[in-house]
Amino acid sequence: MSDPQAPAWLALDERHAWHPYTQHATDPRPLPVVAAEGAWLTLADGRRLLDAISSWWCCLHGHGRPELVEALAAQARALDHVLYAGCAHEPAARLAARLVGMAPGGLERCFYSDDGSTAVEVALKIAVASFRRRGAPDRRAFLALEGGYHGDTFGAMAVGDPEPFHRDLDGLLFAVERAPVDADALGAAARRLGGRLAAIIVEPAVQGAAGMRAVPPAVVRAARRAADETGALLIADEVLTGFGRTGRTFALEHSGVAPDLLCLSKALTGGMLPLAATLASGPLYEAFLAPERGRMLFHGHTYTANPSACAVALASLDLLERERTPERLDAIGARIEAGLGAEDLPAGVRLRRFGGIVAAEGPTGGGYAGPGAGRLGEAARTHAPDVLLRPLGGVLYAMPPACTTPEEAGLIARRMAAVLRAVR
Ligand SMILES: Cc1ncc(COP(=O)(O)O)c(C=O)c1O
Repeated sequence: MSDPQAPAWLALDERHAWHPYTQHATDPRPLPVVAAEGAWLTLADGRRLLDAISSWWCCLHGHGRPELVEALAAQARALDHVLYAGCAHEPAARLAARLVGMAPGGLERCFYSDDGSTAVEVALKIAVASFRRRGAPDRRAFLALEGGYHGDTFGAMAVGDPEPFHRDLDGLLFAVERAPVDADALGAAARRLGGRLAAIIVEPAVQGAAGMRAVPPAVVRAARRAADETGALLIADEVLTGFGRTGRTFALEHSGVAPDLLCLSKALTGGMLPLAATLASGPLYEAFLAPERGRMLFHGHTYTANPSACAVALASLDLLERERTPERLDAIGARIEAGLGAEDLPAGVRLRRFGGIVAAEGPTGGGYAGPGAGRLGEAARTHAPDVLLRPLGGVLYAMPPACTTPEEAGLIARRMAAVLRAVR
């Protein structure tokens, strides 16, 4: 149905655009967003919505932070972009040093790419290729956790749980061993793979796309132990959790584990520009050093280490340190959790919190794409018209930016409770 209030360009979107994770046959029209400031989005008709999910988990400090806008403008004026093969530039050099300095110990090198999926692809390639370079070509197996999600490119999909996202591609993705989120089961699976195991990949602390499910520190520590015992590598995917979401700068701090490869993206630029980094240990970098050019790491993207994105990331890290963003997010999460706790929630709703991430497992049940999955989404549109929530199947969650005020945190809690009550 045409809406007289809708902007003219929305018809072009409807005719020509294809949105991600969208069932165009049945989903409502997309929200026409024309502006954003702080925690709030403004729609074409003037309506405002609180971005309670940080625009797919990337907006860290709030939208339109002047420090980030200025960093972008200044860098774009000075050096907008240049290829990163055979060229270097200050923002990428400074950012690499900064990330290596703040990450868990042992990570010495930073390989840039564009998004979370490519950060994972790079880690997987480094893992397998480094063993080949070091005379262990049979180490090609990966071990991942059930429920894991690592992105939508082919390697990242292969290590992700096929349910519910990747079933269309049955047979096309390389085989990956999967263990339940359990320390003993993970150790046993690693031992079964033994000398064939290249790497174990985990989302430390919380599996996001699986519905904000816990990965306890004991499991992360077991992954490190199993990697050490079998001579394999540990890949930590902190694409979601990195830069404060769980109340610590990195979620690995909850377990005290240092990985061999660390995947970062999303909040790396505070949510302003796409950028990713795969941090690698010194020995992994050295495995590719040889007199023959053919032994280098064969990987690179056009926009690798885009200077503007690197400059914004540096400005975002300044804010993160100056404003103690991880602690702020933790306090915001605690407020939302307390607000929800004070509401009359339907029986059977289970709450969980990881720093600034608060999830309520709703009473509808059902998987991401199952029959119950749309109900929470529908209820969110009706009962939270001023708060942007996008449930993950039967899980309603909030992960707002660090500028969210106590009043706004209270609003999120009240709207989440109303949505949960509506599907009782
Ligand atoms: C843990 C994790 N890894 C990787 C990805 C993929 O990131 P992107 O969507 O930027 O490719 C995501 C995205 O949600 C994620 O949560």
